[in-house]
Amino acid sequence: MTAPLLRVEDLVAGYAPGLPVVHGASLEASAGEIVTLIGPNGAGKSTLLKAIAGLVTVERGSIRIAGCDVVGLPAHEIVRLGVGYVPQTGNVFTTLTVLENLKVGGHLLAPAQRAERLAQAFTRFPVLAERRRALARTLSGGQRQMLAIARALMTAPRLLLLDEPSAGLAPVAAEGVFAELRSLARSGVAVLMVEQRARAALRVSDRGYVLAEGRNRVAGPAATLLSDPDVAAAFLGGRRAA
Ligand SMILES: Nc1ncnc2c1ncn2[C@@H]1O[C@H](COP(=O)(O)OP(=O)(O)O)[C@@H](O)[C@H]1O
Ligand SMILES: [Mg+2]
Repeated sequence: MTAPLLRVEDLVAGYAPGLPVVHGASLEASAGEIVTLIGPNGAGKSTLLKAIAGLVTVERGSIRIAGCDVVGLPAHEIVRLGVGYVPQTGNVFTTLTVLENLKVGGHLLAPAQRAERLAQAFTRFPVLAERRRALARTLSGGQRQMLAIARALMTAPRLLLLDEPSAGLAPVAAEGVFAELRSLARSGVAVLMVEQRARAALRVSDRGYVLAEGRNRVAGPAATLLSDPDVAAAFLGGRRAA
């Protein structure tokens, strides 16, 4: 078996020294799989993603990308190592056009490469090509989320981190986002997302982790988590149809 692309071990991280909100969490994600992180509000899920992206201080533990420990590296170096991050809010510039947003996403690239990646983005997301001159704020919620993902893809990440990509979307738009993530995973990207829509997210995932109070609670194949009555009762909102 090949080593996972991302390996987080015993991570302690937070916003102020000595006051961590992630208390020793561990997880892995491999190329081509979707891994979903669920858990109650305030569990530290977003903070864990931010730590991987280099956006919060890590006090202890390790974060390896393809074997390289990235703890302490500035966020732009982590981008260069192949990590894309789609935050939950503020993930597009609403006053810029679709095209401008994508250009910003590719600002680290040489012009020829940026042009190539733009063409790839418009092939992957035809709706963004159609609306390339539109201001991002005029997009529907689903289109905006596609733009946020397309923007993160401009640097061709090997690992894509997404914080609640379906938040605020109608079910059909959420399914569109999840289908896009499946397609990305098929192309070899490792996808790690945090989701409140736990059931729907696990249905498109290979594996899942439940985080509570900054610590791992349960982990396993997504199908196992979905069929575990204890997990369902405690973390999936109980209702099967949701
Ligand atoms: N920018 C911040 N500064 C200080 N504390 C924060 C900040 N963001 C989140 N927290 C705190 O960290 C804890 C975990 O938050 P978060 O990682 O956002 O949880 P989750 O995404 O699982 O809901 C919460 O207690 C929250 O209040
Ligand atoms: Mg969160």
